[in-house]
Amino acid sequence: MNRPAPVSSRLPEFTWDTLDAAAALAAAHPDGLINLSMGTPVDPVPPVIRQALADASDAPGYPLTAGTPALREAVATWVARSCGAGVDGLGVLPTIGSKELVAWLPTLLGLGPGDVVVVPSICYPTYEDGARIAGATTVRTDSLTALGPDPRVRLVWVNSPGNPTGRVLPANHLRKVVDWARERGAVVASDECYLPLGWSAAAEPVSVLAPEVSGGSYDGLLAVHSLSKRSNLAGYRAGFVAGDPALVAELLKVRKHAGMIVPAPVQAAMIAALGDQEHADAQQERYRARRERLLAAFTGAGFTVEHSEAGLYLWLTRGEDCWATVDWLARRGILVAAGVFYGPGGAQHVRAALTESDEHVAAVAARLAQP
Ligand SMILES: Cc1ncc(COP(=O)(O)O)c(C=O)c1O
Repeated sequence: MNRPAPVSSRLPEFTWDTLDAAAALAAAHPDGLINLSMGTPVDPVPPVIRQALADASDAPGYPLTAGTPALREAVATWVARSCGAGVDGLGVLPTIGSKELVAWLPTLLGLGPGDVVVVPSICYPTYEDGARIAGATTVRTDSLTALGPDPRVRLVWVNSPGNPTGRVLPANHLRKVVDWARERGAVVASDECYLPLGWSAAAEPVSVLAPEVSGGSYDGLLAVHSLSKRSNLAGYRAGFVAGDPALVAELLKVRKHAGMIVPAPVQAAMIAALGDQEHADAQQERYRARRERLLAAFTGAGFTVEHSEAGLYLWLTRGEDCWATVDWLARRGILVAAGVFYGPGGAQHVRAALTESDEHVAAVAARLAQP
């Protein structure tokens, strides 16, 4: 009997498993392992959000895939304020965190074999995973002009501020991507989960929905957002997509059939999170302080920090193979992600996350200061 090849055979090995040896080495440090390899929030969920979740916990009925009217309004208001987008005609839809949308978007949009998904040259691996799940082809590039008039490009991912590089794409760059895609009928999906975490006025993150990028139209545009980092909600799985109303309506139709529904208590928690800027500002200040400390510590230890002007990571190099750097840090009990996880262009870099406690960040600085 000929069984179809398993879908997992289209996907690479789970990259984090390749860090096991470095993790064991770091764990052998007398003062223990400090994990900067993941961008997982460590600070508490703000009380205002926990209360909203608790208050909505009596939820026996099925929730709305489209989100409650109150959630849709909260999302639209937040997008208008934070992305500079207008509310009129904007399509919005809650998602179960943003990773599931990233991984399923090519499939939900009907892409398949022969279709091309463009992803940044160094990027979050799930863009490529999503293309592989759909059976589509991935092209890694930061320069669309290098692609030529390829009619098969159906989806272009951009990610600013970027993971892992912390790079911010200026509005004129994003505008060119939008124009290029619109000319070819391709969708631009802009992963903006780090948008609220800019560190420099000179490199202010800009949304694809901002008028200077969108030209005042949402045509062909999807902005993908997450509350995981802004509001410490990675454990809740709370994200949303906003943009082209026709595309969002199509996603909703398929997601209703597929049961991709955000739980009702999480929808209520999202409303509270989106309506409260105070906790987000406080969290950003925590990350700002950790970033400054880690930036000084790594620079002082001879690392070069590239980009990293926004987002939750430092993109670091010692001008050597990334595994040598991973090993060098592991011997000091510090675990980081190997740059090669994010594409061949990252082979000489490592990524250090800002998501560790103040105490651990201070310990990293102390360990790096030792000869
Ligand atoms: C660039 C990028 N997009 C999406 C995600 C997924 O985030 P979540 O599923 O928690 O919303 C992450 C997580 O780290 C990320 O770095």
